[in-house]
Order: sequence, then C-alpha cells, then structure tokens
Amino acid sequence: MSWHATILTLFPEMFPGPLGVSLAGRALREGIWRCEALDIRSFATDRHRTVDDTPFGGGAGMVMRPDVADTAIAAAMPDGDRRPLVYLTPRGRLLDQAMVRDFAAGPGIVLFCGRYEGLDQRVIEARGMREVSLGDYVLSGGEVAALALLDACVRLLPGVMGAAESAVEESHSAGLLEYPHYTRPAEWQGRAVPPVLLSGHHAEVARWRRHQSEAATRERRPDLWNRIQVAGTQAPA
Ligand code: ADE
Repeated sequence: MSWHATILTLFPEMFPGPLGVSLAGRALREGIWRCEALDIRSFATDRHRTVDDTPFGGGAGMVMRPDVADTAIAAAMPDGDRRPLVYLTPRGRLLDQAMVRDFAAGPGIVLFCGRYEGLDQRVIEARGMREVSLGDYVLSGGEVAALALLDACVRLLPGVMGAAESAVEESHSAGLLEYPHYTRPAEWQGRAVPPVLLSGHHAEVARWRRHQSEAATRERRPDLWNRIQVAGTQAPA
C-alpha cells in the first residue's frame, strides 16, 4: 500500500507541482506514494460556488465556510480513514522533524490548505484537525506549506532516499545544525578549503566538523542549543 496524500485546496493545479520531479517525482512514478488534490470549490452548493463569507464580529478579510470545508473533508476521508487531518495555518504548532517522522510512518496524510483569513473554528474542532505551521511568517495560503510538509515526509518513505540523503537525516536527528561542506577546487577565488579537510586524518576531520556543528547551533539557533543542554543529550561525534 502506497503512502496516500490527499490535499484539499482551492488551487489543485499546484499539486504535485515541484514534487513531480527529482526524488519525490521518481517515488510518485514508482507508486511509493500517491498524491490526490481535491478542489474545495467543487463542494460548494450555491449557484456562485461560494467557499467563504465575512467574519462574525467584523474585521478585514473573509473566512472559509465550515459547511463547505466539512463536505470536502468527508469526501476526502471515507469512514475508517486512519490518516491524520492537518490544517496548515500560521496559528499551528511548528512543524519539526519529529512530527515529519511521525507522519511518514503512518498510512499517509490529509492536508487542508487555507486561504483568506482562515477556516471557521468550528470545523477545526468538530473534525479534530491538527493545526500545523511552517514557521513564523505568513504565506498567501497553505499550499506552499503543504508542499514543504509533503516533501519532508516523502523523502523518509522506504526506498526514496539514497545513502547520502540518509546521512543528512541522521545528522539532523542528532539535534545539531550541519557542519559546512567543501568540494573541488581546493582553492577558489583566493579562498582555501580548511586545511584539516585535506589532511586525511579522519579523527581530526570528525572533531573539526563536530566543533563547527556546535558553534553554528549555539550562534544561530540558541533555542535548539538550549534544548540539547537541558536534555543532557550527548550527540554522537
Ligand atoms: N498558511 C499561511 N501561512 C502559513 C504558515 N506559516 N504555515 C502554514 N500554513 C500557512
């Protein structure tokens, strides 16, 4: 059984989009995963196929109607569908690699992409939707976030990643940022590669990389660094 992604969106033509090429595209053609995009508008019932309305309480923008959203969700998820239902919104819990691993280990995912000011809260609660955010910035809709989430999941499916990508995944799992990478030429525009990398001393190289990872994490991501300290995790060298 292939990993099954269903996307509810007002722009189904955005899928699989960039996921139709490279690693994810090959996996799609090989049947490792399936991607099905449903047009939320096709579940509207009025003559104008309305999907949104003005917010109760006033204010700017429009809100996606709960009745139309619920009908679309019912069509996407037959009874007994065990896949998590995720609503992509900047109000959601921040997506991280642990969440991605969890989604990838299951039967698939149903993603609801919001537009306008958002989705009526009642359908979020009634359907037990998991609200997930890609980061602390506002996209014009959930679609680009859905593509990012799917990309992160699909690369973890068995048979998708090669050895090189697997190694990167392991390194991120240790909780530190990656060390910097270099390749030929050894000197470029007057810039030399750090000499230790040309030394052939594997232990020295490992020590240098470890130091670079720690320094980058401390400096750029104090949140990650503090979490590692608190957990008392000794990340592998
Ligand atoms: N929709 C709009 N902005 C978003 C974000 N940051 N994450 C997830 N979905 C979004």
